[in-house]
Amino acid sequence: MKIKPIYFTLLVLAAWISGCDRSEKITFTKSDINIIPQPRELHLQDGAFVFDKKTVFVAGEESHKIASILTSKFRTVAGWEPAITSSAPESNYVEFREDSGMDHEAYTLEVTADHIAITAAGYSGYLYGLETLRLLLPAAIESRDLQEGVTWAVPAVTINDSPEYPWRGLMLDVSRHFFPKDYVLKVIDRLAMHKMNVLHFHLVDDQGWRIEIKKYPKLTGVGAYRVDKEDMHWNARPVPDPSEKATYGGFYTQEDIREIVAYAKDKGVEVVPEIEMPAHVMSAIASYPELSCKGEPIMVPSGGVWPITDIYCAGKESTFEFLENVLAEVMELFPSRYIHVGGDEATKTNWKTCPHCQKRIKEEGLADVDELQSYFMKRMERFVSSKGRIMLGWDEILEGGLAPGATVMSWRGIEGGWEASAQGHDVVMTPVSHCYFDYYQGPQDSEPMAFNAYLPLSKVYEFDPVVDSMSVEQVAHVLGGQANLWSEYIPTTSHSEYMLYPRLNALSETLWSPKEKRDWEDFSSRVQHLFGRYDILGINYAKSAYTITADASVDANQEVTVALKTEFPDTDIRYVLNDEALDKAVKYTEPVQITETTTVKASLFENDKSVGNVFERTFTWHKGVGKKVAYTREWNKNYPGAGTSNMVNVLRGSKDFHDGQWQAWIGHDMEVVIDLENASGIRKVAVGAMENQGAGIYYPVRVEVYLSENGKSFTKAGEIQRDYAKNGSADIKDFEVDFPEQSARYVKVKVTNQGKTPLGGNTWLFVDEIVVE
Ligand code: ACM
Ligand code: ZN
Repeated sequence: MKIKPIYFTLLVLAAWISGCDRSEKITFTKSDINIIPQPRELHLQDGAFVFDKKTVFVAGEESHKIASILTSKFRTVAGWEPAITSSAPESNYVEFREDSGMDHEAYTLEVTADHIAITAAGYSGYLYGLETLRLLLPAAIESRDLQEGVTWAVPAVTINDSPEYPWRGLMLDVSRHFFPKDYVLKVIDRLAMHKMNVLHFHLVDDQGWRIEIKKYPKLTGVGAYRVDKEDMHWNARPVPDPSEKATYGGFYTQEDIREIVAYAKDKGVEVVPEIEMPAHVMSAIASYPELSCKGEPIMVPSGGVWPITDIYCAGKESTFEFLENVLAEVMELFPSRYIHVGGDEATKTNWKTCPHCQKRIKEEGLADVDELQSYFMKRMERFVSSKGRIMLGWDEILEGGLAPGATVMSWRGIEGGWEASAQGHDVVMTPVSHCYFDYYQGPQDSEPMAFNAYLPLSKVYEFDPVVDSMSVEQVAHVLGGQANLWSEYIPTTSHSEYMLYPRLNALSETLWSPKEKRDWEDFSSRVQHLFGRYDILGINYAKSAYTITADASVDANQEVTVALKTEFPDTDIRYVLNDEALDKAVKYTEPVQITETTTVKASLFENDKSVGNVFERTFTWHKGVGKKVAYTREWNKNYPGAGTSNMVNVLRGSKDFHDGQWQAWIGHDMEVVIDLENASGIRKVAVGAMENQGAGIYYPVRVEVYLSENGKSFTKAGEIQRDYAKNGSADIKDFEVDFPEQSARYVKVKVTNQGKTPLGGNTWLFVDEIVVE
C-alpha cells in the first residue's frame, strides 16, 4: 500500500538534528502536513516546535482536561509527561488562551519554535485545536508503548479554523447488530479526532431494543434478544418459532448510557438518542404485544422484515402513555437538545382495519392513515417540546403535515430536506446517495457483503448538504449532515470500522472545511498518510480505494479498449495479458486494446513489487461481436445498456445493476435475432444474466436458441430451464445452451422472464451479453 507515515521522515530528521539546538534546523514541507478535515486557513512557517521532558502545558480550568489528553499520550510513548501549570514559562510551552469573541468551535493554533498557542472561546475550540496539534505530531504519538528515538517535532504553522456546519454526525445502528460500550467509546474518540460532533444513537429497531427502560423491563428482557440466525443472509432468515431460544443480542444499561454520554461530552460529541416509532418496533411489540393494533404475540425477528406492518397502534391511549414514559426516561439520560423519534417506513395496513385507529381518525377529523401518522408524530412533538427539547424525525414525518417544532433528517434524497427547509424547519442532510455507509465502497466481488448499493470514497467526498436550488433562507436551515451506518450486514466491530473509515474522514471534510478548500487529489494523499496513524491505532480501515477496476469500452469500429484504474489517483498499476506471470508486468499508462479473447491481469506495485490486490478478468470475444441485433420488444427505457449493441459488445456488467452494461425488461420476456452476416458453425449460446431478488431482479426461467440460414424459418437448436430458488444475494451467471454444431447466419434467442415475484409483483429480467460460439 502507498503509505507514507510522517514519522519515517522524522526518524531520519531525528538522526540529523541530534546534537544541534532543539528545533531550529528542522524543516517541514506541505506534504508533511496531513490534517483531516482540512483547516480553513493554514500557513506553514520555517522551523518546528519540539516536545521534550521540560515542555509544559499552560491550562486553565476548562482546558486542563484537554491538555491531559496529550500529556498522558507523552507519558505512554515518550516515558515522560509534560507538566500542566497555570502560568507560562519563558519558552517551551503549550498555552491555551481564551478569546470569548470567537465562535464556540473555532480555534487558532500557532506553532513556533518557542511555544504553541491554542486560542478559542472555550472547551470545543480548545479541543479542536488540540486534535489538530495531535495530527501534526508524528503518528507514533498514537502508540500504546514506548517509542525510542522519535523526535516529537511539530511544524511551525499558523492555523485559523472553524466549521462550515454545526451538525457533523454519524448514526450508529446498534439494533440490527449489537456493539459493546467500549466500541462506542472508541467511535466517539475517532469522531472527535476528525472534529465531528454528533453521535446519533439508533437504539431501537425491529431486531433489537438496546436501552434499559426501568418502567418496562421486558423491553430489554425480551426485546434485546433474538433467535441466532447469524449464519444466514439477513433477508433469508425465517420467522423464528416460539420454541427457539433467543440468544443473540444485548443492551446498554442506564449506567452504560450515562458513561457513554459523559465520555462523549468530554470529546465535544453530543449523543442524540433515536427511539423509533410508530414502525421499526417489533422488538417492543414482542415485549408488550398490547402496543400493536392486534395485540397478538410476535417474536423479535432474526433478520430482515419487509414491509413493516407490525407497528404501534395509533388509536389506543395506552400507546402514547407508554411512549411518553419511555421518552421521559430517555430524556433523563440524554441531555441532548434533539430527541429523534424515527418515523420512517411505516406500512399502515393494520391501522386501516383497527377499530381503535379508525375511531381516532374519526374523532380527530383525519383524512386517512397518513394523517393519522402525522397526528401521532405531532403528539410526540408536543411532548418532546414540552420538556424543552427539539423533536427530530426521518423525512417521512413530512407526510400528512409536519409538526410545528420538528427538525427533519432527510434520507430518501435531499428532497425532504429541501421541502422542510422551505417550510421554515431546520434539517440535517443524510441522503442515501452520499451518506449511507452500509453500501459497498468497492466492486462487490472484492468486498464483504453489504447493502446492495454503491458509495465509494470519492462520492462521499462530493457530498454537499446544500444544493444550488435552495434560497438563502433555506440554506440557513441546513444544520449539516451525517453518515448513517445501518448494521444489517455488519456483525462485528472490526467490520464496522471497515465500513466507517476512510469514508467518515471524507465526510468530516465535507462538513467542516470550506468548499473551496476541498480537493480530491489532495485529500487522497492526506488520507493515505492517515492510514499510517490508523495502523498504529489498530483501526481496520478499508483499502477499497486501492482496488483495481477495469473500464472497458467499445468504439464505433468495434474496437474494445480496457482502462485500468484505482480510486486513489497516481497508483502504480502494472499488467500482463493472458498466461504471462505477474513478475513480467509492465506499467499501465493507457487503455489496452484487445481484438480477441483476452485475460487481463494487473496488480498494484510498490518499489517494483506486487503488493497484492490482483485484478484478473477475461474479455470473451465471440462470433456475435459487433453484429446487428433486432429486438422483438425494446428494453425498458430506464435500463437501455448500450442500446442495440449491448448484447454483442464484449462488455460485461457488474453486480451494480446501474453500471450501464445491463439491459432490462420488467414483466416481459426478451427476444432478439442476431445477424452474423455470414453463415458459420454454431455450437453454443450463453446469456449473461443477473439476479438481485431484493431489487426485484430474477434469473430467467428459460433460454431457447433458434437458428436460421435465411432469417425467416428458424429451427430450435436447444433450450435450458431452471426453477426459481430464493436467493438473498446479488449474483451474475451465464446461462449456457449447448448443442451439436450447426451452420447458421441468424441466431434467435428467447429468454423467458420469471414473470411474478413470490409476493406478486412483476419481475425484472437483466441481460448484459449474448455470447455466440
Ligand atoms: C432509513 O434509512 N430507513 C431512515
Ligand atoms: Zn390500531
